[in-house]
Amino acid sequence: MPAPRDIPAHRFAFGCHRFGFGPAPGGGAVDVTKHVVPMVKTALDLGINTFDSAVLYRATLQLGRALEILNVEPQAIRFQTKCLRYLGLAIDGAVEHQPDALLQGIPARYHGLTDRWDPSAAGVEQQICRERIEFGGGTLYGVALHDSPDMEKQVGLTWETDVRPAVRFLQTAKNGGFVQRIGLGIKEPAFIHRFIKEEPGVLDYAGLTFCPSILGPLMGIIKAAQQGPKFEVTLMGINYGQAFTLTQDPVTAPDFLYNYEVATAEERALMSRYFRICGSTPLLHLAAAVAGQLVVHFPDVMTQIVTSTMTPSRLVETIKLIREAEVPAPVWRELKAAELIPGDFPTN
Ligand SMILES: NC(=O)c1ccc[n+]([C@@H]2O[C@H](COP(=O)([O-])OP(=O)(O)OC[C@H]3O[C@@H](n4cnc5c(N)ncnc54)[C@H](OP(=O)(O)O)[C@@H]3O)[C@@H](O)[C@H]2O)c1
Repeated sequence: MPAPRDIPAHRFAFGCHRFGFGPAPGGGAVDVTKHVVPMVKTALDLGINTFDSAVLYRATLQLGRALEILNVEPQAIRFQTKCLRYLGLAIDGAVEHQPDALLQGIPARYHGLTDRWDPSAAGVEQQICRERIEFGGGTLYGVALHDSPDMEKQVGLTWETDVRPAVRFLQTAKNGGFVQRIGLGIKEPAFIHRFIKEEPGVLDYAGLTFCPSILGPLMGIIKAAQQGPKFEVTLMGINYGQAFTLTQDPVTAPDFLYNYEVATAEERALMSRYFRICGSTPLLHLAAAVAGQLVVHFPDVMTQIVTSTMTPSRLVETIKLIREAEVPAPVWRELKAAELIPGDFPTN
């Protein structure tokens, strides 16, 4: 058996998004004592010291309460969050942009609200101050500008008015010591290259929603980060929602998420190609192995994997898979021959 990948616990971050909207395991609303405390305790027991949230998720107060209950000083953890998109009133023509698949089963307290965008200095200040109060700690380890590519797709995006004011405010907050790092939290790899051009020298970390089917574009981002000006790259999840957790052929599987929207026929067909080549190796193992290989082979750039669940044993399992999941050499070879994995990707 090959040695496990050497990936220290500080390379992982726990994603808090479900502490807000849920659902809890088995359905229903999230209860801090019953669900959040065991989840946070498991992360800490694993040595995971970084927690990732967003003002949109309405999840950070639950994290802060769990830390209090566990008697953990908030300053003892690293807390990173996201700004720009938040929940506002569904009035004045404001429409919901999140796909229905993500909205099912959310608690009644979120009904009648919708996602809104506020890049103003005053708006971003409110967002990040709120996050700091709810977390309960001092400085913020990172604040990511999230969802700009979604905004562009849904209603259009004007850089000067929709992004730049937030960047300028975060730079001021960083200079003042309130924010330690400025990041991105996005689903569209090309946006990272655009951000670097528009805002040279600003980016500390690029958080990208990930799965192996975007490994090609990710390698381009790693190259850009190595060439400088330097920035770190972090993986926001490794499965594109549920796409790499499927255990039946994606062509005929019931509806599933691919990059947090219901998979189209084309995406089903793509996932099916991975599924058939992987054979007895679960897709979940392929996603975990790719993520693990990235952190091991590009340690200066690939600094963090954000993963999330509401089931403590699943967090233990995911960390173990990222360190230990094996993909047989013939499977790697076939995936490369089919151009589903880039030919130069380091597989051992
Ligand atoms: N930009 C965006 O729009 C966006 C969207 C979503 C998330 N994010 C960020 O990315 C972070 C990570 O997201 P994520 O954790 O959802 O991404 P992920 O790692 O891509 O997917 C995790 C999903 O895999 C499932 N899973 C894990 N192990 C499994 C197993 N053994 N069997 C079956 N299912 C399994 C989990 O199910 P269970 O949860 O049921 O255990 C969960 O639904 C979030 O915290 C958030 O900050 C960003």
